[in-house]
Amino acid sequence: MAMDYSEKVMEHFAHPHNVGVIEDADGVGEVGNAKCGDIMKMYLKIRDGIIEDVKFQTFGCASAIATSSMATDLIMGKPVEDALKLTNQAVVEALDGLPAVKVHCSVLAEQAIKAALADYYKRQGIENEELNARLACDAEHDHGVEDED
Ligand code: FES
Repeated sequence: MAMDYSEKVMEHFAHPHNVGVIEDADGVGEVGNAKCGDIMKMYLKIRDGIIEDVKFQTFGCASAIATSSMATDLIMGKPVEDALKLTNQAVVEALDGLPAVKVHCSVLAEQAIKAALADYYKRQGIENEELNARLACDAEHDHGVEDED
């Protein structure tokens, strides 16, 4: 069955932004999707609390690629505090929506960014308990994810 993807999703899927690896990243996060088993890896380069560069690699589907492309665009050049607040719902809205059965794919980008930020804080010797608790909680449940599969 053909999915009803927005023009923005098709654009970001066909020409994804920020794909690749940052060799000297300050934070790296890797997460798997509980629903489909697909994997996402996120790399952050951070200077003075600002995200200078961000890249991703994924084995996920077209929706995972499009949401990661948009999510990385949204946090590029922003303070880490802004990236911490990014939600998959905001990314989906920026893409003009996703088919309901594909919303779970958008969670990969949000969780990979948060995992990379947790790694960044750990390397800095900072314990961000709120972030760690959120990640542990996300690993057990799919918060705010509504789909029909
Ligand atoms: Fe796995 Fe979309 S089906 S990320």
